[in-house]
Amino acid sequence: MTSSRRPGGFFLQAMKRIEDLKVQNIRWLNSSSYILELTGSEATADIQPGNFAEIRVDNHPDVFLRRPFSYLDFDEERNMVSFFVKAIGKGTKKLGAMEEGDNVSLIHPLGNEFSIPENKKVLITGGGSGIAPFIMLGRELKERGNEVVIITGGRTAEDILFTDEFSAYGEVYCTTEDGSLGEKGLITQHSIFAGELNFDLIYTCGPDLMMRAIAGIAKENDIACEASLENLMACGFGACLCCIQETTEGNKCVCTEGPVFNINNLKW
Ligand SMILES: Cc1cc2nc3c(=O)[nH]c(=O)nc-3n(C[C@H](O)[C@H](O)[C@H](O)COP(=O)(O)OP(=O)(O)OC[C@H]3O[C@@H](n4cnc5c(N)ncnc54)[C@H](O)[C@@H]3O)c2cc1C
Ligand code: FES
Repeated sequence: MTSSRRPGGFFLQAMKRIEDLKVQNIRWLNSSSYILELTGSEATADIQPGNFAEIRVDNHPDVFLRRPFSYLDFDEERNMVSFFVKAIGKGTKKLGAMEEGDNVSLIHPLGNEFSIPENKKVLITGGGSGIAPFIMLGRELKERGNEVVIITGGRTAEDILFTDEFSAYGEVYCTTEDGSLGEKGLITQHSIFAGELNFDLIYTCGPDLMMRAIAGIAKENDIACEASLENLMACGFGACLCCIQETTEGNKCVCTEGPVFNINNLKW
């Protein structure tokens, strides 16, 4: 997918919209995950790595609330946004069964964004659907002269996705729990963590336990670390308080003050 960012996107970030987009394509990558491509968006210039959208699943009254998804990517020329979705429940399965041309309502772009340094050495760690925000982030990091190392983890080889895309931005490694691809074990057991960790910043997104373990390693090694949290959400705009996260500065809504947090501010 080709993407470009319009200068000034940062300043437009606060302009949230409700948009009706059309399904362009749903591409299944394995038995449980797919890429959802939606066209008709005028919000692409606002999108920053870390942002997410609240997507409504229409025609299914039992899926009442919108579901939050990080952007996988966007294509400004085609007014297209894409999402990587793991079909784990009612909403994600029904979304995956939509057809080309169907309408999908989005509130977006929402949330804050990852910090993007210049000319540093950074490590990205993504597990499960937590890899979604890292394609855009990897591209942006590379464009700003950073040396990027990426580790993705999954249960089996089937879960290891986007390695070609990631390798355009940096060195890519993976772990699988059954050893079918990369090193056997959890991300935190990767041999990279056995040596000296000379990174300036670590990013993490994935299951809660994984992010907490990565945060622990970052703290032990005195490395800055940002985690993109996937707390359960309902409204997506700070009204229902169901996404609350305890931080050193009190309770915060992940939907409006996250999803990206400096791990030193989290009460983990
Ligand atoms: C900011 C943010 C970004 C996200 N980005 C992505 C993404 O890019 N790709 C992706 O596949 N998923 C992402 N998620 C998770 C996604 O929103 C949920 O998987 C989805 O809402 C589940 O909807 P469902 O109707 O299929 O599942 P439900 O039927 O509602 O639930 C099925 C099961 O999944 C659990 N579950 C529901 N939501 C979550 C969650 N947020 N975290 C952990 N478990 C959950 C439920 O407790 C239940 O056990 C993100 C979540 C957040 C908050
Ligand atoms: S999801 Fe409602 S306040 Fe965050």
